[in-house]
Amino acid sequence: MVQERMEELIKIINQASYEYYVLDNPTITDQEYDDYYMELLALEKKYPDLKREDSPTNRVGGNALDKFEKVTHEAPMLSFDDIFNEDEINAFDERIRKVITNPVYTIEPKMDGLSGSLIYRNGVLVRAATRGDGITGENITLNVKTIKTVPLRLTKDINIEVRGEIYMSKESFEKANLERETLGQNLFANPRNAAAGSVRQLDSKITAKRNLDFMAYFIPNPEDYGIKTQSESLAFLKELGFLTNYKLNTIANNVNEIIEKIGELHHKRKSLPFAIDGAVIKVDNLKDEEKLGYTTRVPRWGIAYKFPAEEVLTTLKEIKFTVGRTGKITPNAIFSPVHVDGSLVSKATLHNEDYCKEKDIRIGDVIVVRKAGDVIPEVVEVKFERRKADSIPFKMIDNCPMCGTKLVKEDANYFCPNKNCPARHTENLIHYASRDAMNIEGFGDNIVEDFYNMGYIKNVVDFYHLDKYKDELMSLEGFGEKSIIKLLASIEASKQNSLERLLFALGIRHVGAKTAKILARNYKNMDSLMNATYEELSEINDIGDIIAKSIVEYFNDEKNIELINKLKENNVNMEYINNNYRESENFAGKTFVLTGTLMNTTREEATLIIENLGGKVSGSVSKKTTAVIVGENPGSKYTKALSLNIPIWQEEEFLDKVSEANNE
Ligand code: IVH
Repeated sequence: MVQERMEELIKIINQASYEYYVLDNPTITDQEYDDYYMELLALEKKYPDLKREDSPTNRVGGNALDKFEKVTHEAPMLSFDDIFNEDEINAFDERIRKVITNPVYTIEPKMDGLSGSLIYRNGVLVRAATRGDGITGENITLNVKTIKTVPLRLTKDINIEVRGEIYMSKESFEKANLERETLGQNLFANPRNAAAGSVRQLDSKITAKRNLDFMAYFIPNPEDYGIKTQSESLAFLKELGFLTNYKLNTIANNVNEIIEKIGELHHKRKSLPFAIDGAVIKVDNLKDEEKLGYTTRVPRWGIAYKFPAEEVLTTLKEIKFTVGRTGKITPNAIFSPVHVDGSLVSKATLHNEDYCKEKDIRIGDVIVVRKAGDVIPEVVEVKFERRKADSIPFKMIDNCPMCGTKLVKEDANYFCPNKNCPARHTENLIHYASRDAMNIEGFGDNIVEDFYNMGYIKNVVDFYHLDKYKDELMSLEGFGEKSIIKLLASIEASKQNSLERLLFALGIRHVGAKTAKILARNYKNMDSLMNATYEELSEINDIGDIIAKSIVEYFNDEKNIELINKLKENNVNMEYINNNYRESENFAGKTFVLTGTLMNTTREEATLIIENLGGKVSGSVSKKTTAVIVGENPGSKYTKALSLNIPIWQEEEFLDKVSEANNE
């Protein structure tokens, strides 16, 4: 009886959610919904053994995880090549027409989020994963269950994998940023980053609050369901209860129609409730897709057309000069805030004096701005015809805006030569706390500057002494008790960061986040990196001459050693922590050589996968080599392996072994 009622309630509530969130057409009132929900919750509390996997009460999130478990995709999760103009659309169509006569294409909005894979068994959602490197992703099932537009149970009791985009609507993005602003947290740059950040939360209760959505667009094994075209796949997904872009997806029969349909999507872009960054063109007929197949990296049967960056008009209000970590002075355009490609922007770098003069940019000008590389705003041009007669030409400043010291010019840039200029310090501190560095959440630019000016933080070690001033800080105007407790907690948590974050945070010249990672992986701890010689460093792949020199120079400076020792005294972790490391029988302690082009992964990714499972990748074949992993068109390493009788693993076999290792 109870079980039947629970089942019935789950059905009613899931149906109501579907009507509300997917169809946008509710048939029961909020009050009715709440009543059913409370009834189900009460029954599940009373009979926990009867609680089901597809229960909507799972949508609020579960217990927090320590880390995400790795999962291997049943079929690699690929993406398409990007194209940017009509010529490239033509070239794509020509390539297709060499193999297929009269191809038909689907034109779909290119959702701007992150792709996810959902696996259903007997119609019940059992696993959700991120794309990861395409071969292995992360298990985010608990988080995905909180997404209202993900059906927990399908309309058919089938086994199926469904792929689509996890994204945040424009409305939820604005709301999330408003909330972050009031809490003094860093703002999300755009809805895609917001979605990515929200879905990778170890605590699914946080994800639940972020209001994500899921748009389904792909079935990896459509033939299992008698599907013959991509259009049928989309219709089937809709039938199963998924949100699909059925109002926007269209068909095109030739290049003109492709361009026309993409134009229509572009036109609608602004008014859509979610961000799209282009259109995806796919060959509709699955038999044709099969004929076209794959290149070494991507499907030949589809392509992603990216819209040109959106250009928006605004007015230049001010040119503000900032002082960087090295003392470099940068002019910045401060303009009336405008929405560009889904986020609100109000400033852009103007690089240096020459750039400003070349553009002849003046305060009061109407300017065109866009986002370069999807993220960083830039000024494209000045609308001279709208310039006011009394506008004043740009003039570089002579003195540092922070300390007043006379600036010196080096090549195209001006520098503040004062080593004790407060701006240098605050920039260092802001960088240290920033997201890709020590990720001390809550320490945005303004708070760091305030704390610096009030004397609480003069250098990075002071972050770790802030707790001494806890009471004092809590009484500061504008800082609630809660926010100070949060700040202190994130400082404490930052002590456990893996080495690469600290290396990047220290601001060693030429050591960006990626280089820091390579260094941490190779040296494992700060002490061995400190002892590394120039020769050793420059032997590492991707560490060039300039970087190697800069690292050696950094560790030759007594002051830097002193700083590191102080951080050590404050228990800041100096070791590389590889969360992905899990020794596996097939790989641990073994040495592999890669040769030829791998179909489903890059060499860099394959190396990382092997290292994470405890193996090593070597550049040359010897008797000690465990196996040579062979892609397309292998080179001399392959012949050498054959002559030495070293086992050969084709890429498939390698992936199977990785799969096995991940399921061990
Ligand atoms: S199909 C083999 N359809 O854009 C690719 N992808 O390169 C199968 N995306 O990473 C994916 N909208 O995350 C497909 N309607 C759509 C899409 C879409 C967005 C993403 C996807 C992929 C990239 C395409």
